[in-house]
Amino acid sequence: MSFRLQPTPPARPNRCQLFGPGSRTALFEKMAASAADVINLDLEDSVAPSDKDQARKNIIEAINDVDWGNKHLSVRINGLDTPYWYRDVVNILEQAGDRIDQIMIPKVGCAGDIYAVDALVTAVEAAKARSKPIALEVIIESAAGIAHVEEIAAASPRLQAMSLGAADFAASMGMQTTGIGGTQENYYMTREGAQYWSDPWHWAQAAIVAACRTHGVLPVDGPFGDFSDDEGFRAQARRSATLGMVGKWAIHPKQIALANEVFTPSEDQVSEARDILAAMADAKAKGEGATVYKGRLVDIASIKQAEVIVKQYEMITGG
Ligand code: COA
Ligand code: MG
Repeated sequence: MSFRLQPTPPARPNRCQLFGPGSRTALFEKMAASAADVINLDLEDSVAPSDKDQARKNIIEAINDVDWGNKHLSVRINGLDTPYWYRDVVNILEQAGDRIDQIMIPKVGCAGDIYAVDALVTAVEAAKARSKPIALEVIIESAAGIAHVEEIAAASPRLQAMSLGAADFAASMGMQTTGIGGTQENYYMTREGAQYWSDPWHWAQAAIVAACRTHGVLPVDGPFGDFSDDEGFRAQARRSATLGMVGKWAIHPKQIALANEVFTPSEDQVSEARDILAAMADAKAKGEGATVYKGRLVDIASIKQAEVIVKQYEMITGG
């Protein structure tokens, strides 16, 4: 129980975050023309060390020159354990125009990581008299990141989104897998000779959702590596949506439509939610706090559940 109101996260669609390496300039126009809500131009792990300087220049040029429409435009900088990150922040914010919306910080391990980037961003913004404040997003992808997830979610008013990065997370945790998200062969329970697969990413996702919802940050599911496996992507995304996440990364354009489909509440979900709201309005008119809808209990908490679905749908579709 708490008298504090739960803060509302930014009201913008974040169903799909499309990634592309800053070294592959031929992808930029295609990314801009895609149906992804968020674009992540990457300077980190999809760019070879010898390409970092050139990728930074490419991204600065693309921020200024490409028509990004109404997409939320984000650049993933290098981690704070590299010699590249400060120049990523300084060059981009000194040389790119106001079209950039956000900086993504990978491999965050504690609130101090966000404080360091926030301090640098704040200084460059002031020095260059930038008019639009830069938002931050972070990736939880280490044991330290998940252990400190709540202080990270609370670290800065600039923080808008937080993703789970399955590959680095698995490596940092010492998990015995090379899979990036999805079903893991050896994570199962057994009964009477049959195998029942379970979800090794579940607890980290739930911890991220709780931290994000406490502090008004958008919780996002990260990459699904096997882009040939649509069914696997869809199943992973549906589990994330059911847990309260608002979107998922696409590391290949094939995955954009799948993410948009799963993270837009379906017509059936919305119509059922509206029916529940109508049933509760009738109940309220009769002075009742609980009633029966299709043979099951609905009460005042059901109003809040239904409103999550209807509000998300209306925010995404504009009506
Ligand atoms: N964004 C937009 N378009 C993309 C794209 C992306 N990330 N990746 C590929 N495409 C385009 C290709 O240019 C190609 O276009 P065409 O039909 O006009 O020729 C089409 O989609 C099919 O691409 P395909 O040949 O299947 O892929 P590829 O071999 O060129 O690239 C990857 C595959 C995985 C290397 C590439 O998708 C990629 O770099 N993904 C992002 C990786 C990344 O940023 N990782 C960091 C976060 S985990
Ligand atoms: Mg990573």
